[in-house]
Amino acid sequence: MTHQYPALTAEQKKELSDIALRIVAPGKGILAADESAGSMAKRLNQIGVENTEENRRLYRQILFSADSRVKKCIGGVIFFHETMYQKADDGTPFVQMIKDKGIVVGIKVDKGVVPLAGTDGETTTQGLDGLSERCAQYKKDGADFAKWRCVLKISDNTPSALAIMENANVLARYASICQQNGIVPIVEPEILPDGDHDLKRCQYVTEKVLAAVYKALSDHHVYLEGTLLKPNMVTPGHSCPTKYSPEEIAMATVTALRRTVPPAVPGVTFLSGGQSEEEASINLNAINTCPLMRPWALTFSYGRALQASALSAWRGQRDNATAATEEFVKRAEVMGVTLAGQGC
Ligand code: 13P
Repeated sequence: MTHQYPALTAEQKKELSDIALRIVAPGKGILAADESAGSMAKRLNQIGVENTEENRRLYRQILFSADSRVKKCIGGVIFFHETMYQKADDGTPFVQMIKDKGIVVGIKVDKGVVPLAGTDGETTTQGLDGLSERCAQYKKDGADFAKWRCVLKISDNTPSALAIMENANVLARYASICQQNGIVPIVEPEILPDGDHDLKRCQYVTEKVLAAVYKALSDHHVYLEGTLLKPNMVTPGHSCPTKYSPEEIAMATVTALRRTVPPAVPGVTFLSGGQSEEEASINLNAINTCPLMRPWALTFSYGRALQASALSAWRGQRDNATAATEEFVKRAEVMGVTLAGQGC
């Protein structure tokens, strides 16, 4: 049996757990605005806008200039490194605009996926080198939580035992480094929705992946009360011929979580993973009303499902900026109402 030497003081633990609880306070979720420059190219191309630093700044300004109505439904915003140091037209730093609304600032700290040689196209995520120093700097610059995304894929031969173990371990190492720097780690083992697998297979794989993640977090002495989980919902693959109801998706998702995620974890903040804005809110509603005990806050950390309407309202035109901001506020409010309806 290993012995745990002290890793965090009582004060450090309290700070981490307070941050996590603020982010997932009743009725609140997360805006994931941390698309890398590469992912932003895909979003901006869709609306015929060139992917320049200035256009990315203008787009983020639309989201961050939402007024105080979003305070009630957004507990945290995840930034990308570039955005963390950008400013609005009037010179106010974006970080300040978010903090002024009482929203917690987060930062994506991974450096993207790389191949795992010898596997059937599987990956791990890089970015551990220098992570402690980067976390210390981000904390000084106003970030109180972080995100690291690992990716697993479902096929006849995947995820392999190697990919499950490697990704669980790198997530745990990242989480441990964040906590040493006063940063709440969001642990994101995303299982992609690509493929024709059914709901049951996604549930099985999700359970195996999450069980491995929580074993690794325990091995690394990670303080669970000061973490959040960002999983996929359990859904059928995009090309699965069988359709499932939101209630079936909710039952599969909550069952998988109950079997693997300790109640010490304060919140589960789902990614939207290509679901439409409407689907993502209907499914989250079903998850929060499913007839199973749920010891964690179950909320959103959506990218596309909070931004799609705003993006198409904007289309790169300055004159559309106010209308686009309004679309984002509306979407955030719908999500807030989705959560408030369940008294969670
Ligand atoms: P989507 O909600 O668009 O899947 O993005 C969330 C995210 O941050 C994925 O890492």
